[in-house]
Amino acid sequence: MSPFPLGRPARLAVLASGRGSNLEALLRAFPPEDPLGRVVLVISDRREALALQKAVQSGVEAEYVPWPKGEGGRARFEEVAGQLLCERRIDLVLLAGFMRILSPQFVGQWAGRILNIHPSLLPAFPGLHAQRQALQAGVRETGCTVHFVDAGVDTGPIVLQRRVPVLPGDTEETLSARILAQEHLAYPEAVRRVLRGEARP
Ligand code: GAR
Repeated sequence: MSPFPLGRPARLAVLASGRGSNLEALLRAFPPEDPLGRVVLVISDRREALALQKAVQSGVEAEYVPWPKGEGGRARFEEVAGQLLCERRIDLVLLAGFMRILSPQFVGQWAGRILNIHPSLLPAFPGLHAQRQALQAGVRETGCTVHFVDAGVDTGPIVLQRRVPVLPGDTEETLSARILAQEHLAYPEAVRRVLRGEARP
C-alpha cells in the first residue's frame, strides 16, 4: 500500500499556519539536490503566515489557500489545496504547525502519504496546547511525535518520537522551546524513514 521508496526524489508539500520553524528545518534538511526528496510547495490557510515568506525566500512555491468561515469552509479549502497537491504531483504531505482539522475524506485520499508533527509524546496530550497540558499534568518527561495522519485528531501510527525532560520552574514558553528544538530534528528524520520505506502506517 505504501508507495515508498519511490526510486526518485519525492515531491514534498508542507502545510503550515504560522511561524514555520519546522518548515525551515525541512527546507534545510532537504536541499534541492537531495536524492530522497525536496520541498516543492508550501500551502498556508493564513495569508500572513511567516511560513509563506520563508518558502518564497527559499525559492519554493508558496500558496495562500483561504479557509472560509462557516459551513463549507473546510470543503472549499480542501478542494483548492487538493487540486494544488495533485497538479504539483505531490508524493508526501507534511503538516507542520497546520492548526486545522482535515476531513476524514481528505485524509483518506492521502492515507500513508500524510504526516503530522505534534508537541507531545502521543497518545498523551493530543489537541491544542499540548505543552500546557503536560505542565498541568505534572509529568516529568514529554517530547514530540511524528505520525501518519488518520481520521482522528493526533491518533495515526507513530513514525518516531523524541523525548525531553520537564524541568522545575518550566513555563509553557521554556518547555515549548525545548520541545521545538527536538521537533526540528525529529521531522526530517521521520520523513527520511518514510521516504526510504522504513516506516509504514
Ligand atoms: C510546533 O510546535 C508544532 O508541533 C505545533 O505547532 C508548532 C508549529 O511551529 N503543532 C501542533 O500543535 C499541531 N497540533 P512552527 O510553525 O514553528 O513549525
